[in-house]
Amino acid sequence: MFTKETYIERRKKLIETVGAGIILLPGNGESPMNYTDNTYHFRQDSSFLYYFGLDHPDLIAFLDTDNGKEIIFGNDLTVDDIVWMGVKPTIGERASQVGIYETYPLDKLASFIDEAQRKKREIHFLPPYRAETKVLLFELLGIKPSQAKEKSSLKLVKAIVNQRNYKTAEELAEIEKAVDITVDMHLAAMRMARPGMKEWEIAAAVHEVALAAGGNLSFPIIATINGETLHNHYHGNTIQEGDMFLLDAGAETQMHYGGDLSSTFPVGKRFTERQKEIYNVALAAHEAAISMLKPGVSFRDVHLKACLTVAEGMKELGFMKGDMQEAVNEGAHALFFPCGTGHMMGLDIHDMENLGEEWVGYDGEPKSTQFGLKSLRLARVLEPGFVFTIEPGVYFIPDLIDMWKSENKFKDFINWNKVEQYKDFGGCRNEEDFVITGEGARLLGKPLPKTIEDVEAER
Ligand code: GLY
Ligand code: MN
Repeated sequence: MFTKETYIERRKKLIETVGAGIILLPGNGESPMNYTDNTYHFRQDSSFLYYFGLDHPDLIAFLDTDNGKEIIFGNDLTVDDIVWMGVKPTIGERASQVGIYETYPLDKLASFIDEAQRKKREIHFLPPYRAETKVLLFELLGIKPSQAKEKSSLKLVKAIVNQRNYKTAEELAEIEKAVDITVDMHLAAMRMARPGMKEWEIAAAVHEVALAAGGNLSFPIIATINGETLHNHYHGNTIQEGDMFLLDAGAETQMHYGGDLSSTFPVGKRFTERQKEIYNVALAAHEAAISMLKPGVSFRDVHLKACLTVAEGMKELGFMKGDMQEAVNEGAHALFFPCGTGHMMGLDIHDMENLGEEWVGYDGEPKSTQFGLKSLRLARVLEPGFVFTIEPGVYFIPDLIDMWKSENKFKDFINWNKVEQYKDFGGCRNEEDFVITGEGARLLGKPLPKTIEDVEAER
């Protein structure tokens, strides 16, 4: 937890920005897996963590912007609870650690909400992403789960995005800690993978590094020889000489700030010649994107530069033809790079995706609907304090290739015969995390090997 002053300061700013009404911020509860007492790993809501730092289930925060009243609702343990869970600090003790001195049991919240409603006060809440929170809003406010998103407060969303998007020095230190652990996860995988292993053996070793550092994963591990499937969570393949292994994995610290890195390495000791060629196209796009990072640059342009670099590299190798700027304008490169170059990162690995990419990554600007560009999560002008990933890649997705080829799509830009020969290639990417500084950008955490030579040296 940061010092209580950090949380007091953050809430003060939030209350000033929202300006009127009640801010209702429910934390997360335990979530049952197959019966009530057998729960998923508990993860606190990130906005709740940001303003209250309290990493425990079943707490609800109530901020009154008119008189600065700050209340935490939660139940103290009964003796029955203590028998099973041990003695824990009281809600009052916990709340005072973050500068809140008014607490009540959960069953008192309804009377505060009723009074606010009687006085016609606006009640601001965020779009809920958990069913339990939707039920809570229904019980407290009578809002149907299907309407909870549209009735949520845009004012509150924008106020929170405008704070959480700008990382402070103490947050950056925490993120760097997460990235350093993440680098160790990737090094462990690069050093242990051998032909004949199952993907899950590598995933398990990667997870162990995160757990042993005191935190956990920042998102489900992608550890696969089928790197062309972007969010591939299947770990059942046996890895073989000649395969390329793609690991996309990250740690979050005890305070839940995360890291997110990707690496691609040969299952054998060396990349094959054809793997090297494609890998270097992805790496060139990665470096081209990094070279543009500074305040005032639009991340959409960073992404388009990465796309152009992929297209030019693929043209040089004979996969594409014609004018590559035109090809990118029309979206032909998306056959090989159908996703975005990066996303904001912080307490969430896709930071605040629950509040809406249109505010977090687009500052309210509309998103493209073009295949490829529509998957770009970050497109706004970069500002100091923004933390995000850089992760272009090159992928050969058999179903996409078959579909576009059968439609004779982009025949002026794509050499379909050449593409056909690589349908079983898979995919590759590198991913690193950056912060925008006053003048440029800084790599977060220690470097992860990414040139062919440096990656092979780890094998
Ligand atoms: N690391 C997973 C993702 O960025 O979607
Ligand atoms: Mn990522």
